Amino acid sequence: MRNIVLLISGGGSNMAAIVAAAQREDWPATLGARIAGVISNRADAAGLVLAREAGLATATIEHRNYARREDFDAAAARQIAHWDAGGEVPALVVLAGFMRVVTPAFVAQHQGRLLNIHPSLLPAFPGLHTHQRAIDAGCRFAGATVHEVTAELDHGPILGQVVVPVLPGDTAALLAARVLTQEHLLYPRVVKDFLRRPIG
Ligand code: GRF
Repeated sequence: MRNIVLLISGGGSNMAAIVAAAQREDWPATLGARIAGVISNRADAAGLVLAREAGLATATIEHRNYARREDFDAAAARQIAHWDAGGEVPALVVLAGFMRVVTPAFVAQHQGRLLNIHPSLLPAFPGLHTHQRAIDAGCRFAGATVHEVTAELDHGPILGQVVVPVLPGDTAALLAARVLTQEHLLYPRVVKDFLRRPIG
């Protein structure tokens, strides 16, 4: 059985979409993979409530308690390893609305099994405020990207994308909501495809 560990910072809607797909499609039986737990870097993340309601193990590692980014990442890596003890293959680590930039050391430790979703059509608009920037640039289309995480922020190999129209009169909030709905279809699908890849 392969373990999946999800990292969140806020609402957790992408995490919830992956959890719902895993339960609906019985991933342990169909993919040999199970969700081992959900980590949040904020105790007030609403997604923690969703994870607990789904019967999942959760852990809060408050990033504010760590002076150095490396120390926070090391604590998160320990929690992942703890949940993955006895796992047949190293756990898949899924950043789902996780708003921390991970260190090169964390990336190296989880190389090739670390995924992220970014709310733009990468390589366009890495970083923050992606929807407002797409609107300000006059884009006719926007979207989201699931990619493997590398040491360069929002630049890893693209695994899947979804496109939505930018409509006249769109605000960043309206566009974000339209993109988020599609993210909830994209991310479970990409995670599933990734789990089907031969290991190694
Ligand atoms: C999503 O748009 C995601 O792409 C971005 O954060 C937003 C919130 O996601 N990283 P969630 O509801 O916390 O999953």
